Amino acid sequence: MDSLEQLIDEARRAFAAATQPAALENEKARFLGKSGSLTERLKRLGSLDPEQRRTEGARINAAKAAIEGMLAEQRNRLAQEAMQTRLSAEAVDVSLPGRRREPGGIHPVLRTWMRVEEIFSSIGFDVADGPEIETDWFNFTALNNPDNHPARSMQDTFYVDVQDADGKPLLLRTHTSPIQVRYARRTPPPLRVIAPGRTYRVDSDATHSPMFHQVEGLWIDEDVSFADLKGVYTDFLRRFFETDDLAVRFRPSYFPFTEPSAEIDMMFTTGARKGRWLEISGAGQVHPKVVQNFGLDPERYIGFAFGSGLERLTMLRYGVDDLRLFFEGDLRFLETFSR
Ligand code: DAH
Repeated sequence: MDSLEQLIDEARRAFAAATQPAALENEKARFLGKSGSLTERLKRLGSLDPEQRRTEGARINAAKAAIEGMLAEQRNRLAQEAMQTRLSAEAVDVSLPGRRREPGGIHPVLRTWMRVEEIFSSIGFDVADGPEIETDWFNFTALNNPDNHPARSMQDTFYVDVQDADGKPLLLRTHTSPIQVRYARRTPPPLRVIAPGRTYRVDSDATHSPMFHQVEGLWIDEDVSFADLKGVYTDFLRRFFETDDLAVRFRPSYFPFTEPSAEIDMMFTTGARKGRWLEISGAGQVHPKVVQNFGLDPERYIGFAFGSGLERLTMLRYGVDDLRLFFEGDLRFLETFSR
């Protein structure tokens, strides 16, 4: 093979092997650059006689044109490959659905919380709040639950590694009842208040969660009776469940902060769930010692309190039988309440 043809062949292979533009340009320099093999040959033409110079010159120029053509082709191929890579890397699938911002919904327990506030506000109850991290005094002692009292063990909670002024560790409140005390100590009687909020206990099964919600109710005046409690609570239940067809009964119970104490049970008197008593709330007449801790004279002030679970109310209203569903964050469950 003639050496020019060999050169063309060599350039063809070198260009084809160059897979990056920079490598290709290096190869170009090897053949067509200032001291590239073709350029060297052109320089040497001067030493030939005119006849030879013409034919050899024409051959070299033809080879140069061929090599330049191959170079342009390979440049083109590499550019197209680069474009393809970029196109597929930056590909946009225009058939994909857009990223919509889904409308939010109100959590079923919060929905209950709001309804409870609405119902009690409409009959003149104030709505109060209190800290979720409580002192031992507000959570237990002020509610007539002294140190070492066995009723404390019914409410095992989470403790915070910080001590209060009495040298007792702070704790996550086990009920909303401490808000009774906080509210009563800063508000002159008569007192009519509810206090919904988060509460905590070391408890976890289908009907207990370590974090749950309660609503506390308190009505203190000079002449408030159990009949008032029964009237207010029955009215609340009828409005909450949107039916007059329910019965309410009080069953004797024990809470340190009330005397006497009761469990409030309710029963639907029509519909699929009729005929079964359902426990719905703790309640009672506020214990004189607690009234004293309100800073009030128990000889003069009397009243009642109740504490109901918001999850319990929500489960009964919607027929949910596992409380854990409320806190798993599964949208398939939660969405059924937001429509
Ligand atoms: N704090 C009680 C509990 O968590 C519920 C309760 C019962 C609250 C009776 C009250 C009450 O205010 O009078 O189990």
